[in-house]
Amino acid sequence: MSKRDFLSIPDFTADELHSLLDLAGRMKSGAYRERPLTGKTLAMVFAKSSTRTRVSFEVGTLQLGGHALFLSSRDIQLGRGEPIRDTARVLSRMVDGIMIRTFAHADVEELARFATIPVINGLTDLLHPCQILADLLTTLEAFGTLKGKTVAWIGDGNNMCNSWLNAAGVLGFELRVACPQGYEPDRGIFERNAALTSLLVTGDPEEAVAGAHVVTTDVWASMGQEAEAAQRAEAFQGYLVDEALMRRADPKAIFLHCLPAHRGEEVTEAVLEGPQSRVWDEAENRLHVQKALMAMLMG
Ligand code: CP
Ligand code: NVA
Repeated sequence: MSKRDFLSIPDFTADELHSLLDLAGRMKSGAYRERPLTGKTLAMVFAKSSTRTRVSFEVGTLQLGGHALFLSSRDIQLGRGEPIRDTARVLSRMVDGIMIRTFAHADVEELARFATIPVINGLTDLLHPCQILADLLTTLEAFGTLKGKTVAWIGDGNNMCNSWLNAAGVLGFELRVACPQGYEPDRGIFERNAALTSLLVTGDPEEAVAGAHVVTTDVWASMGQEAEAAQRAEAFQGYLVDEALMRRADPKAIFLHCLPAHRGEEVTEAVLEGPQSRVWDEAENRLHVQKALMAMLMG
């Protein structure tokens, strides 16, 4: 069988995503005790900072019997201009899987094209599919199902938002995005998924959260957009997730944030630390879903 990659949510079918989330749940509960990565190595290439992604993949590999290599692109030859396609072929001769976090999504696609081992997207400017796996698991823990659930995305139409759109399309739940003009999600991703499920893009956060089961947001300036931070802070006025906005959602609604969060910008302290927040479970779930993903691709 040829190798499988995980560059975006639609790389997996709905059935495969459900199997992955089920396996992650069994790993979390302790019911799963296998070590399918015994003797195997994951190369983790980072061109951007990370806490959760780095720690979840490294600890996850270890718990499954394998070993992880942290490769900052500043320190490997990639950062000095060695081509991605050469890095892909060299790593493929030595390790069993590659997880990469970088800027251009096309770079990850090129890495996957030239690698003969599974490649996992640990975040690009376009997508963050690994985080969405954790968000889906956290949503399932809260509601038992995704069927009939509505997710409201408030803020930037960024990599997280694009991956939520993909998840909604593959799994068939409703997603409403509230964002300022000029900060909409990727048009192609929106259109592909709008053909599969109910999607809305609005400039009104209250319209997006009305009766929603999941309310979620992210920073206004992602990694690589630091120079635009002031201009973005202005554009995103009115997109703060606060208790008043949460009251418009379903009474049992949960709040998710991939973290790191900027308290007082995209979300208030009261919501982030409040009774509806599941952000710490969501962060922990990175470990369980990353393990399930590696077991499926590299095990
Ligand atoms: N949510 C997330 O991907 O966090 P890190 O940037 O810390 O990996
Ligand atoms: N949208 C954020 C997510 C960080 C995990 C970023 O790309 O910086």
